[in-house]
Amino acid sequence: MEIEQLSHVLSDRLPALVSVALFTIVVYAVSSLWNEKSTLPLLGAGYGNAAQRRKEYMTNAAKLYQKGYEIFRHQAYRMTTLNGERIVVPLEALEELRGMPDNVVNNIIGLSKEIETKYTSLDGENSAFAAHMVRSDLTRSLNRINPELAAEVERTVREELGPCDDWTSQMPFNQILRVVAIVSGRVFLGPDLCRREEYIYASTMYTVDVFRAVSKIKAWNQYLKPIVQFFIPELKTLSEHRRKARAFLAPVIQERKEAMRNGSDLPDDMLQWMMNKAESYGVSDARLAELQLDLSMAAIHTTTMAVADLLCDIVIRPDTVDELRAEIKQVLKNHDGVLTTQALYEMKLLDSVMRESQRWNPISQSRFPRYIAKPVTLKDGTQIPAGMFIETAIGPVNHDPKLYPEPGVFDPHRFHDLRNATKPDPINYKTREQYQYVTVTKENMGFGYGKHACPGRFFAANEIKLIMIHILLRYDMRMPNGATERYPRLIQGSHEAPDPTVQIEFKQVQSAAQA
Ligand code: HEM
Repeated sequence: MEIEQLSHVLSDRLPALVSVALFTIVVYAVSSLWNEKSTLPLLGAGYGNAAQRRKEYMTNAAKLYQKGYEIFRHQAYRMTTLNGERIVVPLEALEELRGMPDNVVNNIIGLSKEIETKYTSLDGENSAFAAHMVRSDLTRSLNRINPELAAEVERTVREELGPCDDWTSQMPFNQILRVVAIVSGRVFLGPDLCRREEYIYASTMYTVDVFRAVSKIKAWNQYLKPIVQFFIPELKTLSEHRRKARAFLAPVIQERKEAMRNGSDLPDDMLQWMMNKAESYGVSDARLAELQLDLSMAAIHTTTMAVADLLCDIVIRPDTVDELRAEIKQVLKNHDGVLTTQALYEMKLLDSVMRESQRWNPISQSRFPRYIAKPVTLKDGTQIPAGMFIETAIGPVNHDPKLYPEPGVFDPHRFHDLRNATKPDPINYKTREQYQYVTVTKENMGFGYGKHACPGRFFAANEIKLIMIHILLRYDMRMPNGATERYPRLIQGSHEAPDPTVQIEFKQVQSAAQA
């Protein structure tokens, strides 16, 4: 198939490269004979060669990880994924691996392979600066910025979902995407720029275009990628996004630099916090602008998918909607109607539903993608050679009855009961607070694991809570045509997502209409 695609491209445009391409195919075929770097057991050998195993992974990744969990629960094994061969490590190995330095167990090279940075030109090194900024300045600002964030969410939800005086069918994914982009943008770039259509377009489309480009380049084997990259228009679209972001923010950055020199009042947003540190971290103005795209990519679709999945989970559970509203109203009353960090913390049923939704709806069946830069020997004697990529399975963990009793039940109260200690703790955590949405443990890897676990999860949790609060207070929701089944999700390889085309009906509740 790949050879056919290649010859089609080349016969039209670049006959001189045919010989180079054929040579690389031969190199690939020969080199694959020496590809057995690890002697760990291989899952799915029965499906045939690597291409056949990859095909199986494309449609049945969740089943393969489940099988791997059942057969090799406490043992590492090899598996053919869409990114080539991976070593899937058991949960207990994560304890050891997470403590190892980045020059042994590396997240950036791990991620680079996933998003093909060599061809997409996404910059892993400077993304470490973005991670630092989220972990430090953004998370520390949450107490301060929450009330104004709440006001932004209230206004944006109202504007984007509209009046809905009668039952109105919507594809809420699109509206939620805009809400998340604007609200996140308020924190990233300030109250004016976050509402500019150029920003909203870039921050919502960059991720889509990255994944389009990634899937195009991934369709080719690694020896052909250096050639075909020049014929993939989606890669050019990414450069165009970066060029536009630089042009959009250049005057803003200049203006702010001027204000910094003059000692004028400075904005209180991520761009400014980054500018304050840019010189000491060696980050150029151009990169500052591009980092906004990287931030959007980390923050906006992930948060949107979480809200969209939540809506799909609760729209078929009217009792849960009633209970959530009651909790929200009670907590608001206790806090004089102000959505402070403490008020959000006290919405423990909402937190529980969010975590249960994340348990059911991971955005990937695998987690902890890391590159092994130096050979590792685990305590049980398992050897992981340098140059291998590792990961761990999350789906089977989320549905392990020893960790989550009755895993096949969507239980909105599951984590609420565990936090309140009204149910026994099967994992025996040090504190029941580890059942919060934002707590990362090896049994709860929705936000990843270890020192590179998602630093944006505290911001995301607040944002999701605020969006859900305003949707629940303002709108009644129902499935079209009285349907009672949850909408299925989209699946490709290990990646899963809510279907952005599904419809939900909204109607403004009476009290909100009068407000
Ligand atoms: C529900 C929403 C979100 C989900 C499910 C999510 C999930 C993840 C996951 C799985 C990782 C990889 C962790 C690992 O490999 O161990 C990650 C990394 C990251 N996320 Fe999030 N994320 C969300 C929202 C956000 C937001 C809102 C931001 C920024 C404000 C953000 C910023 C980042 C950054 C900068 C990294 C890279 C961390 C590093 O390399 O050290 N994320 N996220």
